[in-house]
Amino acid sequence: MTNTPLFIPVILGTPRQGRQSEYVAKFLVEQIATRDDVTTELIDIRKVPMTTNDAGESIKDPQFSGTVERADGLIIVAPEYNHGYPGLLKHLLDTCLKEYIHKAVGLCGVSAGPFGGTRVIQNLLPVMRELGLITIFYDLNFSNVQDLFDESGNLIDKPTYIRRLEKFMNELVWMSSVLRYGRQEVNVPASQPSPEVATSMDADAKAVGATSP
Ligand SMILES: Cc1cc2nc3c(=O)[nH]c(=O)nc-3n(C[C@H](O)[C@H](O)[C@H](O)COP(=O)(O)O)c2cc1C
Repeated sequence: MTNTPLFIPVILGTPRQGRQSEYVAKFLVEQIATRDDVTTELIDIRKVPMTTNDAGESIKDPQFSGTVERADGLIIVAPEYNHGYPGLLKHLLDTCLKEYIHKAVGLCGVSAGPFGGTRVIQNLLPVMRELGLITIFYDLNFSNVQDLFDESGNLIDKPTYIRRLEKFMNELVWMSSVLRYGRQEVNVPASQPSPEVATSMDADAKAVGATSP
């Protein structure tokens, strides 16, 4: 089994002008880069080329796909929009399938309100499961985010969030390590991943000439 550092990129899940989630994602990348058991990079959704006149694997961006393929785990920074996730984040996630399977994911909710994106996290959970990602049982929450950073984008109460991030990362590293071991060493046929079912259903629909409404 390889002992190379885990690769866990951070997806910044909104393209919105003035997004506060950018400060959060940059803080995570900066802190994670100080660990010697993980390498990371920022995946800014604004920079991933995507058309919006189609969806799914047919609009896969090779660079995003390659990064997720190389990853041992993911962190998703998701702002809460009307208790849900940004549509463009789902659109991006939907462009890959097999790249996610049996990899760990940690969720970071960001909100203007007091609940720290707990509702967007709850709404992301079934999506993660369908993609074949394994969620950890510890989340990061940035509530009242507009009050957390100074005008230069520096977190005001760093020690509190560094402490929480360490707990989150320790769990994510554990899960990512176990899953990497499993992908490399466990020679038991896995049950058929749900995304493959979705793909074959799509092929079946095309075979019988089903058309979109
Ligand atoms: C369309 C939209 C819907 C929003 N809905 C919520 C919400 O349901 N709950 C909440 O706490 N904040 C909500 N917000 C505020 C965001 O959570 C806030 O902008 C926060 O800074 C995180 O998003 P950002 O990264 O886009 O800035 C909403 C913002 C937008 C643009």
